[in-house]
Amino acid sequence: MIDHNRLAQVRAAEEERFLRANPASSRAAQDRAHGWHQGVPFHWMRDWPSPFPLTAAKAQGAELTTIDGQTLDDFCLGDTASMFGHSPVPLARALAEQAGQGLSYMLPSDKTAAVGAMLAQRFKLPHWQLTTTASEANRAVIRWARAATGRDKVLIFNGCYHGAVDDVFVDLRDGVPETRRSLVGQVWDVREHTIAIEFNDTAALQAALSRGDIACVLAEPVMTNCGMVLPQPGFLELVRAETLRAGTILIWDETHTISSGHGGHAATFGPLGDMFVIGKSIGGGVPCAAFGFSDAVAHRMEAARAQLPPGHSGIGTTLSANALTIAAMHAMLSEVMTAKAYAHMNQLAGELAGGIEGVIAQHQLDWHVARVGARVEFVCAAEPPKNGSDARAAMDHPLEALIHLMLVNRGTLLAPFHNMMLVSPATTADQVSRLVTNLDAALSELEIGA
Ligand SMILES: Cc1ncc(COP(=O)(O)O)c(C=O)c1O
Repeated sequence: MIDHNRLAQVRAAEEERFLRANPASSRAAQDRAHGWHQGVPFHWMRDWPSPFPLTAAKAQGAELTTIDGQTLDDFCLGDTASMFGHSPVPLARALAEQAGQGLSYMLPSDKTAAVGAMLAQRFKLPHWQLTTTASEANRAVIRWARAATGRDKVLIFNGCYHGAVDDVFVDLRDGVPETRRSLVGQVWDVREHTIAIEFNDTAALQAALSRGDIACVLAEPVMTNCGMVLPQPGFLELVRAETLRAGTILIWDETHTISSGHGGHAATFGPLGDMFVIGKSIGGGVPCAAFGFSDAVAHRMEAARAQLPPGHSGIGTTLSANALTIAAMHAMLSEVMTAKAYAHMNQLAGELAGGIEGVIAQHQLDWHVARVGARVEFVCAAEPPKNGSDARAAMDHPLEALIHLMLVNRGTLLAPFHNMMLVSPATTADQVSRLVTNLDAALSELEIGA
């Protein structure tokens, strides 16, 4: 039972503690009010559950130091951009080298061939293109899939997030599709070309695909943006079989599920899709993303392009695949995102999940832990959600936000969204055990559970 008066008391005390501990960040937040709209250069930076965002001085490995001189155990890791650690040495070296040799030529650089070969080998698709963000890669794959199939509809799963991609902001509320209510400035009805169904709903999937008008299914193999929703046994294989049968292109967006293993979820557990998207961590924090595709898709893309007059394709931007990006990806793929790194991340993430399960059991809470490789979350509900609606219902935003703040005050930084935790190659067993101890202390303070 949660005592909401108690939560309000603790919240007030924790906010005060935060203010006292972070005077320089507080002043910096005030200084930023001159010039930056709402005090931040990007509005997501206001989404932290603390009274104001901390101001970072530097970050290295799995530690982030604020301008107040506090060093936090960082399990947020830039919300996946730095999930292989902040400024890993090979990346920092490669960036410094490239910095003196020009950053953007609109020409391939000498490392480009090696990066293409590494992408193909690791993710098991032969053809690749780069963009600057995963959002942009998702927009590109949707466009290509429509062009390649001559169909206009996209199928997505309720509760998904694939970046700033207008086409996929369709939610199901009580089974009724609606444009996501938070979407700013959208003027056309995205439901016209987008079908949303629940994850793990085989009947809805079969019914939607049987109409023969769906260009692509765009999905994460494990949903990670509405809490975590795992596929039920056989569901991903069914998605694969049904998309093949319907002539629909299957696109795995592995921007987050790259936490699963060395080749992402698809190359580690199967099944492979026809197209693949990865962003964020592939450049270690340097903006870049990649999309891959099969021979069959490549042929259909070329055939579609051949029907068009020369001119703007609407795909890509000037900075796509610049030399700095290539240098970053080269270092990340060859020296940082290694099998050895994954072995460490997986083992420690298992320990983290086990530790949190222990705390949940000790406090006799009706909660559980979800995990996809190096990505871990505790969910304030007994049953693992099987779709986006269940996941939405399981969220307790005020409680999650308070726990987040309490952990920051105790030296542990989680992601600002549904308390997601990432374990990097640089994360240590001590950091994991501090997180578990801090969570235990926070729950005792909150007086929830036993
Ligand atoms: C699964 C997934 N795809 C794509 C994106 C978009 O990434 P970006 O914001 O870097 O464009 C995100 C962002 O959180 C994501 O979670």
